[in-house]
Amino acid sequence: MSALIIDGKKIAAEIREEIKKEVEKLKAEHGITPGLATILVGDDPASISYVKAKQNVAKKLGFYSVQENLPADTSEEELLELIRRYNKDSSIHGILVQLPLPKHINEERVIMEIVPEKDVDGFHPVNLGNLVRGKPTFVPCTPLGVMVMLEKIGCEVEGKEVVIVGRSNIVGKPLAILLFQKSKPVGNATVTVCHTATRDLAFHTKRADILIVAVGKPKLITADMVKEGAVVIDVGVNRIGQTPEGKAILCGDVDFEKVKEKASAITPVPGGVGPMTITMLMKNTLEAAKRMVKK
Ligand code: GUN
Repeated sequence: MSALIIDGKKIAAEIREEIKKEVEKLKAEHGITPGLATILVGDDPASISYVKAKQNVAKKLGFYSVQENLPADTSEEELLELIRRYNKDSSIHGILVQLPLPKHINEERVIMEIVPEKDVDGFHPVNLGNLVRGKPTFVPCTPLGVMVMLEKIGCEVEGKEVVIVGRSNIVGKPLAILLFQKSKPVGNATVTVCHTATRDLAFHTKRADILIVAVGKPKLITADMVKEGAVVIDVGVNRIGQTPEGKAILCGDVDFEKVKEKASAITPVPGGVGPMTITMLMKNTLEAAKRMVKK
């Protein structure tokens, strides 16, 4: 069997069209342009390219967008001060500080400084708390993107064995909560979360009807670790080299070529989860702006 290759780009493009229309409507009816501020500290090449992609999409969809590029030696206080400024800026509805941050900056403090109403990443404890309690406000973009993707391909989730490899705050943890919460159409699963202390990873992954991998280890998941007919979602983005033109060569956490012969559906890297993440950021920012109208 050869799997359905899930086209994240195509699904994301459809949702972006809807967002674009909503942005136009919000402007016409309420005079509000959704505003997104992205803040990058340092010069990590992956982070630079992610932030650039986020800004490009924001502009294409008609958002007001500002980009702050701060040097790697920016102090924590300077960064916090910038966040406070955007917290008060009524033209900005979403603030995103690209992670990871340089080691001398306390990530927790930075996340806490963003007002929950502008935390379009969904990382603030208030937003994460709301998610855990089953009343989500802003949901982290990658987990939300995975959920929307599963819904769009018509993947039945209720009652399924879902195995997530990776327990990060950004992906694994919130995704587990979304998948087991009592909601339709993509909740109500039985979820197992595997991590670095899991004794026999393959034992768990082989049981998965839906396998989601987010650890950042190239080709960690091989075909023998996957059940015949499983749906495989690869969140990993690993830079494994460069083309002669200097473009990064990317690969996921799953051995795509071999696993696609066994899975019923699989996401490629690039072109799978990545475009969905950016689209969900736009969705959250639009939602933040719409909440201004309701106030
Ligand atoms: N670094 C990797 N993924 C993300 C994300 O979704 N948001 C932010 N702010 N930083 C990231």
